[in-house]
Amino acid sequence: MMFMLALVHLTLSLHPRFNLLDFFFARRVYALDVRGEIPDELWTLTFLDNLTFGINALSGEIPKELGLLTELQSLSFGTNNFSGPLPSELEDLTKLTQMWASDNAFTGRIPGFIGNNWSNITALRFEGNAFEGPIPASFSNLTSLTDLDLSFNNLTGRVPDVLFNLTLLTHLFLGDNKLTGTLSTLKRQSLQTMCVALVFI
Ligand SMILES: *[C@@H]1O[C@H](CO)[C@@H](O)[C@H](O)[C@H]1NC(C)=O
Ligand SMILES: *[C@@H]1O[C@H](CO)[C@@H](O)[C@H](O)[C@H]1NC(C)=O
Ligand SMILES: *[C@@H]1O[C@H](CO)[C@@H](O)[C@H](O)[C@H]1NC(C)=O
Ligand SMILES: *[C@@H]1O[C@H](CO)[C@@H](O)[C@H](O)[C@H]1NC(C)=O
Ligand SMILES: *[C@@H]1O[C@H](CO)[C@@H](O)[C@H](O)[C@H]1NC(C)=O
Ligand SMILES: *[C@@H]1O[C@H](CO)[C@@H](O)[C@H](O)[C@H]1NC(C)=O
Ligand SMILES: *[C@@H]1O[C@H](CO)[C@@H](O)[C@H](O)[C@H]1NC(C)=O
Repeated sequence: MMFMLALVHLTLSLHPRFNLLDFFFARRVYALDVRGEIPDELWTLTFLDNLTFGINALSGEIPKELGLLTELQSLSFGTNNFSGPLPSELEDLTKLTQMWASDNAFTGRIPGFIGNNWSNITALRFEGNAFEGPIPASFSNLTSLTDLDLSFNNLTGRVPDVLFNLTLLTHLFLGDNKLTGTLSTLKRQSLQTMCVALVFI
């Protein structure tokens, strides 16, 4: 089938550890030194529930067609060279519970749709990119969130007070940005780990 060819094509280096069966059963293209861009044929696999591209050398922007994979529960781009903004079509991935975009070259704002549409998300890892602008106020809706890492980006503005009302949030990393906030809002007893490094004003 076309997507198989595309996936083989994706592994330009034809890495010996890449194996289509592993892809179908574990939905992984993980740590195989795969290079290039995501092939279009992948978007026909609308049944995928988990998909990870983690730890490769993939590049380019995330295609808007990723929004077609509406069964996805977990999605990882972590540790690649993806760039550009996250497309608005990702708002359709309403079943997501975990999303990793860490250690890439993503730019643009952290999308506000995350707060409106990814209502079941428990872990969001966006550290080590070039995201800019504020933390969306809509994150106040993410009542299932336990882990949020936005550190090592270029975020600005005040940390929304409502982040500290998220009762399940136990791990919060906001350091190495240009965020501001006040100490009183940072007291949230349920937080087990917090690294904020804010400018207190
Ligand atoms: C898919 O991801 C979900 C949430 O992370 C997890 O509970 C589930 O076991 C995963 N399924 C497979 C087939 O890996
Ligand atoms: C990462 O992508 C940028 C363009 O977005 C490119 O200039 C750079 O060479 C890439 N780096 C690697 C290690 O692939
Ligand atoms: C995303 O949230 C917005 C605002 O609540 C809503 O209008 C839109 O229909 C939602 N999209 C999906 C795919 O649920
Ligand atoms: C969110 O999780 C609840 C409880 O597991 C489930 O009933 C609901 O369908 C989920 N929402 C989406 C959009 O998947
Ligand atoms: C952060 O933003 C400033 C001002 O726009 C820019 O000069 C700098 O390169 C950015 N840093 C990163 C890591 O994106
Ligand atoms: C999410 O939060 C925003 C801003 O706080 C609010 O306007 C919006 O109605 C909320 N959306 C949902 C789906 O709860
Ligand atoms: C957040 O918590 C503070 C203090 O507990 C409360 O005054 C405020 O109304 C809460 N905000 C939301 C949006 O729940």
